[in-house]
Amino acid sequence: MIIDKEKLFQIKEKALNDNIPILQDESLELIETILSIKKPNKILEVGTAVGYSAICFSKYLDKNGSILTIEINEDRYKEALNNIDKLNLSSSIKVVNDDAVKYLEDLNEKFDVIFIDAAKGQYINFLNQAKRLIEKNGIIIADNVFFKGRVLNGYNEHKHRTAVNRLREYIDNIKEDKDFKSTVLNVGDGVAISVKI
Ligand SMILES: C[S@@+](CC[C@H](N)C(=O)[O-])C[C@H]1O[C@@H](n2cnc3c(N)ncnc32)[C@H](O)[C@@H]1O
Repeated sequence: MIIDKEKLFQIKEKALNDNIPILQDESLELIETILSIKKPNKILEVGTAVGYSAICFSKYLDKNGSILTIEINEDRYKEALNNIDKLNLSSSIKVVNDDAVKYLEDLNEKFDVIFIDAAKGQYINFLNQAKRLIEKNGIIIADNVFFKGRVLNGYNEHKHRTAVNRLREYIDNIKEDKDFKSTVLNVGDGVAISVKI
């Protein structure tokens, strides 16, 4: 898939100006490297925002590959549809406007790569669903697992404690799961990579 770089740059700049949290360059570089090796046929993304990461990922899809991405916020969902359409990618990227916690429960298809990038308090929930939906040799990637360094700190403000605990639970869970080979990298805001073995 060929991506119009100028249009992609405009989408990125607008997202940054609007304070929409999109993948950091460093994390994107890592994920793109993984995708270029894996050449996935099917990608599932939890947390579309305005479609920036899904558009970037589409470049690495195998022939006739597709991305399913879920966004809870209606305005962002609409902007993502618009951005994806601008890049002529509507046939390969499907955006769903729903709460992924609910949507994933009813999903019954397998994916080669699952990217988790949504509500941190729900990461463990998303992980449990991702384990069910990942193909053998598939890769589950989670961004922001360090939550701006809070996950590594001993003390955290009360308002962040639930999310911090859930993220720690996520890291412990993947490290202990014998069905996965996992690593957590200090790239961007922390990226966890788990391969189903
Ligand atoms: C970090 S942003 C995603 C950025 C995007 N992956 C990118 O790099 O371009 C997280 C998004 O997840 C969405 N979100 C949060 N909780 C969600 C949920 N339960 N279901 C679906 N989307 C959710 C938020 O509205 C937000 O737009």
